[in-house]
Amino acid sequence: MPPLAALLLGYPLGAIPFGVLLTRMTGAGDLRQIGSGNIGATNVLRTGRKGLAAATLLLDLAKGLVAVLLVASIWPGEQPLAAAGALIGHCYPVWLRFRGGKGVATLMGVALGLHWPLGLVFAVIWLGLLAAIRISSLAGMAAAISTPVTAAVLGEFDVVPLLMALAAIVLWKHRANITRLVDGTEPRVGRSKSDAA
Ligand code: G3P
Repeated sequence: MPPLAALLLGYPLGAIPFGVLLTRMTGAGDLRQIGSGNIGATNVLRTGRKGLAAATLLLDLAKGLVAVLLVASIWPGEQPLAAAGALIGHCYPVWLRFRGGKGVATLMGVALGLHWPLGLVFAVIWLGLLAAIRISSLAGMAAAISTPVTAAVLGEFDVVPLLMALAAIVLWKHRANITRLVDGTEPRVGRSKSDAA
């Protein structure tokens, strides 16, 4: 059953909590007790370790990309389910009692794997906005929302419903950030943080 197998292959790859593992291995502490408590690169940055944050970003991206490319090579055509498995794995990892990350880097990885221009546009929007406004959550959510739109513009209609669903998961995982954005209390990247709660 390739569809189920693709989902099941994507999930454990996506569920590797690189941020938690790297911070623990390097003695930077338990990421879930730091800053926002999120397991992603933005929160790793709050440990003050830029290299570790960059590594988390790249690895969280890579696991989404690898899941899609691996499934493409084994079961061509089942990439969307691998993408879904990887993002769900990152956001709801069984080994962290389903309390995972917010999915931005992993969504970029799966977008790259599905159709590389999607990942490229994602990166431009995400990094461009991050540089301009320095609010990681807002930049990430905007990039996530843009992905199904970009897919439609590029004529990649078969992945639009999937990307809409994945963007919805990313937005749902950012609900605390959205509340802080509305309240005007969302921290900016690079500021010393009294930290996002
Ligand atoms: O990718 C995560 C980012 O969008 C928000 O992270 O730690 O500020 O909630 P954080």
